[in-house]
Amino acid sequence: MLNQEQIAQFQQDGYLVIADFKSAAEIAAVRAQAARIVDDFDAAESNSIFTTKEQEKKIDRYFLDSASKVSCFFEEEAFDEHGQLRQAKALSINKIGHALHDLDPVFAAFSHGPQLAQVAHDLGLAQPQIWQSMYIFKQPGIGGEVRWHQDATYFDTAPVSVTTFWFALEDATLDNGCLWVEPGGHRTAMRERFVREGDQVRVDTLDSTPWPGDATAIPLEAKAGSLVCFHGLLPHYSAPNRSAISRHAYTLHVTDGQTRYSAQNWIQRDASFPVRGFI
Ligand code: FE2
Repeated sequence: MLNQEQIAQFQQDGYLVIADFKSAAEIAAVRAQAARIVDDFDAAESNSIFTTKEQEKKIDRYFLDSASKVSCFFEEEAFDEHGQLRQAKALSINKIGHALHDLDPVFAAFSHGPQLAQVAHDLGLAQPQIWQSMYIFKQPGIGGEVRWHQDATYFDTAPVSVTTFWFALEDATLDNGCLWVEPGGHRTAMRERFVREGDQVRVDTLDSTPWPGDATAIPLEAKAGSLVCFHGLLPHYSAPNRSAISRHAYTLHVTDGQTRYSAQNWIQRDASFPVRGFI
């Protein structure tokens, strides 16, 4: 699937963009399914927001339970000062997570198959294990910022193995909040670890290396259908979406089963709901 040049690029830069990986029909299927999930979501069930700021304070039972469910989270700016939605529910959801890939048949089909297995193999994942899926809306006008982070913070393995599969479901541009990355930044240290103990979570600081700045960060614009793969230590960021156009994306976080998965990672699976690979 990947050629030597692509593999070398991933190793050098810490990321790789594969254009035209998913077809328009495959994208339309998951977009329609996401719309159905949001339509079925009873907003009275939870007003949980998703934010990457102050996570220790804002993570709740609903979030923790979503590890093995299909749950909707609101944009932080979705509500007015009276707690009412400022716009339609369908334009208020930040993301759906985190077990779509196992529980929803349309997302399961999108998230598995020989092509993805081959990409994972080519990137060095000997035994891929898909822990998490997220449908990210990055809504027009209110799509939240995702601060600089490394995904290994959330999926700690020894040695580091988590690899992110990021599918552009719409064109991701500078205007609607595309990813920003630091090429080569996967060779820097892991700054933080997100640790769960029972129902408590905390973020431990491991290393004080500063996050990338304007001099080293680059925007990663991607056409709909592109698959962006990136290394778990690659620092990445996305700006708020103040444009009139959404920026839908779907992500999978995948580790190598031949590494040691930390018992303190927030998502754990057991025999009743085993973690699976791409096949
Ligand atoms: Fe991330």
